Parts: sequence; structure tokens; C-alpha cells
Amino acid sequence: MRFEVISIFPEYLAPLELSLVGKARARGALDVRVHDLRQWTHDRHHTVDDTPYGGGPGMVMKPGPWGEALDAVLAEGAAAGAGEPVLVVPTPSGRPFTQRLAGELAARSWLIFTPARYEGIDRRVIEEYRHRLELHEVSIGDYVLAGGEAAVLVMTEAIARLLPGVLGNAESHRDDSFAPGAMAGLLEGPVYTKPPVWRGREVPEVLVSGHHGRIARWRRDEALRRTAAHRPDLIAGCDPAALDKHDLAT
Ligand code: ADE
Repeated sequence: MRFEVISIFPEYLAPLELSLVGKARARGALDVRVHDLRQWTHDRHHTVDDTPYGGGPGMVMKPGPWGEALDAVLAEGAAAGAGEPVLVVPTPSGRPFTQRLAGELAARSWLIFTPARYEGIDRRVIEEYRHRLELHEVSIGDYVLAGGEAAVLVMTEAIARLLPGVLGNAESHRDDSFAPGAMAGLLEGPVYTKPPVWRGREVPEVLVSGHHGRIARWRRDEALRRTAAHRPDLIAGCDPAALDKHDLAT
């Protein structure tokens, strides 16, 4: 998969060299390219922002550098046979980034992220590319960051771990919180490891019973309890067909 990021702070994306994403890169599962937006400016100061039309506080990112950057990145990827591009625009006013969207994006061959600073990018850039290719404006939560780079790190990690061969164990995300399918999109329950007693606190007896059926039931009950406590909206929106009669008793 080809992952590209265009930013005025390319150094901010340095964590993409580390850990899971870094290993996926080293293994060739991910081709990550980070571009400095300022290389597509033409003035001495490499200006990327200007005052907003209509007045108001803050600055807006100019359309010129973004248009040139996207045209160049799109042409290069097309020449390299990267497939159909998907543009991901991080913004607090986008649609929520979810595990489902992470899964959809993980199935694509080429993602281009355009993290903005200041008050955002001149709207005409979004309009221009929305008509040319698939574009998603995406928010990682109901809070405002100083820029979209941290959102790109969040999304990249969530997407990369779903790629084949990136997590050591392909089963690892089957029971994740929000995973569709058997776990019905519930939150994951608590987990334990050795020692069996720590500061007088014991591991739940069922987990050391060796009884797979009872363990599975316990895990599901804990997931239901936790979801009801922390995210009742997920229970309300859960597919009834994914629940069994024991779930309903919990
Ligand atoms: N940029 C600033 N805040 C953001 C958010 N919550 N999600 C995505 N991009 C952002």
C-alpha cells in the first residue's frame, strides 16, 4: 500500500519510522512518502497561508501550493502504477474516523493525507479534487488539534495494523474493540497475564479453568458490561443478529 502525506511539518511524521508502521515499511508492506508542502511555493518566504476572506481571526492555507502539490503527487503515483488514489483530509468538521472506515481504507492501494494547519485549507481545493477522485474529510474526535498531523499518525496506525502481514498474528484484530462480526462492535473486556496473584489481587478463576466455552462466555459478558458502562450508544446501535440469548441476559 502507498501512503503519502503532504505537510508543512514533515518532521512531525517521524514516528512513521517506528514500531508497527516502521516495521511494515521495512518489510515492504507499506510504501510511506512524506512531502514538504513548502516545496510547491515560489516566493522567498515559502508562504503557505494568508488572511481569510470575510475577515476573522487566524490564517487560511492558500490553494496554490496545495493544488501544485496534489497534482505532482497524483502524477507521480499514477506513473508508478499506484492504483486509484484516495484523498484523506483530516479536519475536525469531517465524518468520524471509525474502525469501519479504517477497514475500508486498509483495502485501498493508495492513500494521500493532507494535514492542514491554521484555520484549514481554502475550500476550493477540496471542491476541485472531490470531483476528480475519492475524497474523505475525516475527524478523529470531537476536539480541535493544532494541526492534522497528529490525526494522520492516528489514522495511519489504525489502518496499517489491519494490512495483511503487519500484525504478527492475523487473529489479533478479530476481538478488537469495535471489531464487526462475532464481537458485534463491542468494546474489548479486561485482560490479565502472569503472575496469578499480584498485590493480593487474583486473576478471575474462569481464565485459569482451561474451559474454553466458559472463558468465551465470560469474555463476552465482560465486553457487554464494559460497553454498557462506557458506550451505551454502541449497545443501542448493535446489530441484534450479532447478539445471542445469553448476551441479552447480561
Ligand atoms: N485537525 C484538527 N483537529 C482535528 C480532528 N479532531 N480530527 C482531524 N483533524 C483535525
